[in-house]
Amino acid sequence: MSAADSRPSRAPLKLLVVEDSELDFELLLATLARDGLAVSATRVETREQMTQAMADGEWDAVISDHHLPVFSSIEALQVVQASGRILPFIIVSGMIGEETAVAAMKSGADDYLVKGRLARLVPALLNALSAAQARRERQRAITALEESEQRLRRLLAHMETVVDEERAAIAREVHDDVGGMLTALRFDLSWIERNGDARSAERARHAMSTLAQVMQTAQRIQRNLRPPVLDAGLLPALDWQLEEFKRRTGIAASFSSNVETLELAADPAMTVYRTLQESLINVAKHAQAGSVRVDLIASAGQLSLEISDDGRGMVAGDLDKPTSFGLRGLAERAERIGGWLDVSPGERGTCVLLSIPIADAATAAGNTDTAAGDAGPAPGSSA
Ligand SMILES: Nc1ncnc2c1ncn2[C@@H]1O[C@H](COP(=O)(O)OP(=O)(O)O)[C@@H](O)[C@H]1O
Ligand SMILES: [Mg+2]
Repeated sequence: MSAADSRPSRAPLKLLVVEDSELDFELLLATLARDGLAVSATRVETREQMTQAMADGEWDAVISDHHLPVFSSIEALQVVQASGRILPFIIVSGMIGEETAVAAMKSGADDYLVKGRLARLVPALLNALSAAQARRERQRAITALEESEQRLRRLLAHMETVVDEERAAIAREVHDDVGGMLTALRFDLSWIERNGDARSAERARHAMSTLAQVMQTAQRIQRNLRPPVLDAGLLPALDWQLEEFKRRTGIAASFSSNVETLELAADPAMTVYRTLQESLINVAKHAQAGSVRVDLIASAGQLSLEISDDGRGMVAGDLDKPTSFGLRGLAERAERIGGWLDVSPGERGTCVLLSIPIADAATAAGNTDTAAGDAGPAPGSSA
């Protein structure tokens, strides 16, 4: 059994041979035939012919002389690489120094043989073919993986949009329906308080105070669902979020901003808002912190938001947890609008830093340094 029989398919190999000597070309073909490899070969000897051949034909492998009058194996290799195809490339040459051979292999040639000692040609060719096959499969796998990651990114972005829209719709219903009915209920109770007998009036007052709490809860649900950033603007929304965080967790929190107003488009505003939201949830869930500080710095074209806590800090592997998507999602969000997210050990605890590009005219200067003071007017406070 000849070496060539081990090839899975025995259709003639399509060989592109870069060679200026017709005689050497014939010798090469004779060697291949003798060793039982069926080929159909085409000879080229200039860059133009080579480029044309690469553009016109399908090839299984390239065998190239090293030094031709107006062309060379290194240039031929470049033509193959520029075509984007992965093809076995074997140099067969009379005179090539060891250094040149090494350089050729480094730049992607598969093998190098000396003319007149071609016994190794067929095995070398078969080896190169299976190596190229492996490279092609690897390339396909990489491309498939990249495409799948792309799809995943788009899906994530889509999901976030869907979730945001869905929540906004529920928030609208809470405001319009529940809010409306609660308001009607308050009118009725206040009528009973004014017109009922003393005992009914007392009960109505009691019911009204319960109702006030229900209304507050409805407002809170509504604001949790529909980020107030969409109604009240970013800075009041961040303030409100910190207030809520303090109320819920009892962890001290301070907020400082170098600007008094900030006009951002919906996307960057939501990115900043969600970054603070997830970071605060993380502080509450993981950090065991006593306090957290939030610093917002907006300057020409650039906004940074830093959330640092004084908790236990992150440990190696935290960011790679297979089921944790919080910080990963934030990083994706930031990248989508041309920014980045950095998570690092702070002085103590953890520091999350978001940096995004913003429009130049987004800020009005001034320095507010509050301990997460009063939030803006509550959206839907008419409910
Ligand atoms: N502020 C923090 N302090 C300490 N550890 C943190 C902090 N934020 C995040 N981590 C760690 O990083 C991990 C990944 O966080 P995240 O991506 O938000 O996912 P999740 O909160 O769902 O676990 C957390 O599980 C936690 O171990
Ligand atoms: Mg989290």
